[in-house]
Amino acid sequence: MELTAEQKSLLDGYAGVATQKAMQILVALGKIYGASHLIPVSSVQVAGVSYDNLGEAGLEFLNWMAANGGKAKVYSTLNPAGMDVENWEMLGIPIDFAQKQQSVLQAFRNMGLDLTCTCTPYLAGNLPAFGDHIAWSESSAVCYANSVIGARTNREGGPSALASALTGVTPAYGLHLDQFRKPSFHIHVAAQIIETYQFGLLGVVIGQIMEKMKSRPIPYITGISTPSLEGLKSFCASLATYGGASMFHMAGITPEASSYTPHGNKIDIKQQDMNNLYRQMNTPPLQETDFLSLGCPHLSLQEMKKVAELLKGKTVTREFWITTSRPVRKQAEQAGYTQIIEKAGAKIATDTCCVVAPIKNRFHTLITDSAKACYYASTKNNFETRLLAFEQVIQEATRP
Ligand code: F3S
Repeated sequence: MELTAEQKSLLDGYAGVATQKAMQILVALGKIYGASHLIPVSSVQVAGVSYDNLGEAGLEFLNWMAANGGKAKVYSTLNPAGMDVENWEMLGIPIDFAQKQQSVLQAFRNMGLDLTCTCTPYLAGNLPAFGDHIAWSESSAVCYANSVIGARTNREGGPSALASALTGVTPAYGLHLDQFRKPSFHIHVAAQIIETYQFGLLGVVIGQIMEKMKSRPIPYITGISTPSLEGLKSFCASLATYGGASMFHMAGITPEASSYTPHGNKIDIKQQDMNNLYRQMNTPPLQETDFLSLGCPHLSLQEMKKVAELLKGKTVTREFWITTSRPVRKQAEQAGYTQIIEKAGAKIATDTCCVVAPIKNRFHTLITDSAKACYYASTKNNFETRLLAFEQVIQEATRP
């Protein structure tokens, strides 16, 4: 791999051992994937922030990088942490976990990363432009950045994203290059896809088709007319979870779709496919519900408004988390939404989510509008899950 004189000096340790380690990670990755060079990135988003996922070894690595002079060279934000940084006690987070989580965040702070912890960085100030090269890790955000924004990123691991933050570069391979952004099969959707849970279901259906294919193909999707931002973020989360996808094209919607025409194998998604899957994900009906959550991926300001409108004058009867980023929470506060939500008894969980918080064994069921949250609540926390429409989740949360 060709390196500039400056990149070589970083690799030789002239900027300290943490930056040298970061450069070693990127060069090793570049060699594995056949990158010819490193390219500058305009933004980074680092996963591996919750102490629940990171553990002691991860914390030690971050402390070592910070103690050895690692400093961010490019604007970088974080994925959700294991707790609301300010209101962790309200969420029932144990103090020993909270202390470890604070240490993780302190290490990132020492390295100069922005402590905005969110899986929707594009709604919270970390918004790349079309064509920008970036290094992001959160799978739903990677899919959104590539497909909806038209920025370019591979799905980075936590260490490689941090390495890009500290050096400002990433290896030029995969989705950074035109030839790997082409669609290779055609999905036509002939079903009603309007609400967030329906976009999530569509991501499951297409993801399951992709899982059966050998490579990681990029679908060209037709049949969707006017998706909302919220629908697209739900779709991205689900498609990345169930199909490992980092990119799709949607005719008339995503910016690079017009560069291609649908070709290759054509697969139709019918209403019946969606109905069958919906039944599968919601049978049998839940007798007892002890946990509900909206905000996977983190809620937009418009969704916070909707929650406030639907909860106004009502009382929440079960544990109900509304998860969002801190910048969106601040905007919702100014607009008066958070006050209504909290008055009803729901908990606004900022910086975190129902998947990365340490809540295994605390609850038995999860009701949500997110297909991604269903997947991880079941596989990580052994919860029973139900996927309902946004409004229905709120109805369940306030059912006497
Ligand atoms: Fe975000 Fe947590 Fe869902 S990180 S995409 S809210 S699992």
